[in-house]
Amino acid sequence: MSIHWYPGHMHKASNEMIETLPLVNVVVEVLDARIPYSSSNPFIGNLCTEKPCIKLLNKTDLAEPENTQLWQDHFELQSNTKTMALDLQHYDPSKKIIDLINKLSPQKEGRNTLVMVTGIPNVGKSTLINSLAGRHIAKTGNEPAVTKGQQRINLRNGIMLLDTPGILWPKIENPNGTYRLATTGAIKDTAMTYEDVAFFAADFLLTHYPERLKERFGFEEVPKTEMKLLEIIGAQRGCLRAGGKVDLERVSTIFINELRAGILGPVSYETPEIIEREMEQVAILIAEKAEREKLRIEKSAAKRRNAKANKK
Ligand code: G4P
Repeated sequence: MSIHWYPGHMHKASNEMIETLPLVNVVVEVLDARIPYSSSNPFIGNLCTEKPCIKLLNKTDLAEPENTQLWQDHFELQSNTKTMALDLQHYDPSKKIIDLINKLSPQKEGRNTLVMVTGIPNVGKSTLINSLAGRHIAKTGNEPAVTKGQQRINLRNGIMLLDTPGILWPKIENPNGTYRLATTGAIKDTAMTYEDVAFFAADFLLTHYPERLKERFGFEEVPKTEMKLLEIIGAQRGCLRAGGKVDLERVSTIFINELRAGILGPVSYETPEIIEREMEQVAILIAEKAEREKLRIEKSAAKRRNAKANKK
């Protein structure tokens, strides 16, 4: 799997964020409610111990409400953190958000409040800024090395927004996070094949949402494997190659696009409990890797010592 994490852009964007941070009064992070952990920026957690932080879980129309609530409760345990669940496609939450910013801002009566707005690509950051500004604002480039980085937007109510580039921030070695980002559409289509993503999503849905699959595709029995699931859908949709073999790329594209658009109903890909379990696994893998590295260094040091002793 090859993912392009834009290291140069990321470095520049994080430096810009760090430079402006002392001036910022409130941090607003836009998250995708289907993947609140995988869509978050790992740096923001550290920032929020010092600055008031509002986590906006957007696209709640596409996520399961109980899961969104679990994540809100989880985030609100963190110091200085407030959350709101949003569906920017259907509702304008501007007034509520502005009231919350004013309430949290250390500035007197919310005057001269500088609000940093962050979010990975596709979470709805531009939609949010447009609705807060009440007008269309040109998108800040998602590639700060090429285009303009941060942009200031005066809301003319004492609040100045600081829009930051939508950048993907790598998380420590959890491959599921990458697949979730691809399934929801945050990672560009070119970074991973549709087939890879469709296999991940098919496995997830077969485990967690078998009834939805039955309903959507009219199965009497749920297929046993991801391959079988995609083959049946492919046959239903006429995605066939010469000789009657299913065109996996075509059916994968259809399947993922339907899933992204919410046609299979609201889906949440992670809960705080799932992430906790995965992070425990990741910690074990990191510890094992560190142990292997330590042994490797010890072995080569011993080899060098032996070679030296033999020379004498
Ligand atoms: P970004 O700046 O964070 O990259 O996101 P942007 O506002 O451009 O929104 C990305 C897509 O998500 C847009 O769809 C937008 O309409 C949609 N969107 C924003 N908020 C919500 C929401 O609450 N629910 C749903 N279902 N969709 C939302 P788009 O213009 O069609 O772009 P694309 O999805 O084709 O890339």
